Amino acid sequence: MIFLLDRLRLETLTFPPDLPNACARAFEEELQRPWSRIWCIEEEGTLVAFLSVWFVADEVHVIDVATAVSHRRRGLARALLFVMFDETKKQHSRLAVLEVRRSNVSAIALYRAFGFYAAHLRPAYYADGEDGVEMHCVFDVGSGAVVVRGDEV
Ligand SMILES: CC(C)(COP(=O)(O)OP(=O)(O)OC[C@H]1O[C@@H](n2cnc3c(N)ncnc32)[C@H](O)[C@@H]1OP(=O)(O)O)[C@@H](O)C(=O)NCCC(=O)NCCS
Repeated sequence: MIFLLDRLRLETLTFPPDLPNACARAFEEELQRPWSRIWCIEEEGTLVAFLSVWFVADEVHVIDVATAVSHRRRGLARALLFVMFDETKKQHSRLAVLEVRRSNVSAIALYRAFGFYAAHLRPAYYADGEDGVEMHCVFDVGSGAVVVRGDEV
């Protein structure tokens, strides 16, 4: 089941070693930001997938999404993004934005399935010199539906 993380729930969660970029201290820092949301999926008290976003004005910024290696290709990241898209409708978001490594084919395929497109290329964006791809997803403000757009780079 998907739940929105809060401080009480964080105390009960175990972080598995095969879930990238997830640790209790970083999540605690995120929870202190009023604009931050972390949706989680747990299995018997162990976190198996999460999606961390910022709602800033009429935009949503996807900070990170990850699924434990042991739980991949079961639709968990997709389920988390569906929840985020429900929330963008409620918040009347105009745009979703994220950065992803150019080589991250699995994440790019996931985002594309939701209507994200490549909006900018960011050369050597990551510390190891890899390019980043900035992806956008545009929403129709009236209906909240995704406006389909092609890559711009
Ligand atoms: C990207 C990631 C979050 C996907 O999580 P997941 O729970 O396995 O994804 P899902 O099972 O919900 O997959 C949904 C869709 O994404 C795409 N996808 C996911 N993994 C893929 C892969 N290895 N190769 C190609 N497409 C993939 C597919 O379109 C998939 O639909 P399908 O299974 O019907 O083909 C996961 O691989 C991960 O944690 N990667 C490391 C962290 C990361 O890179 N996060 C992105 C940061 S920008």
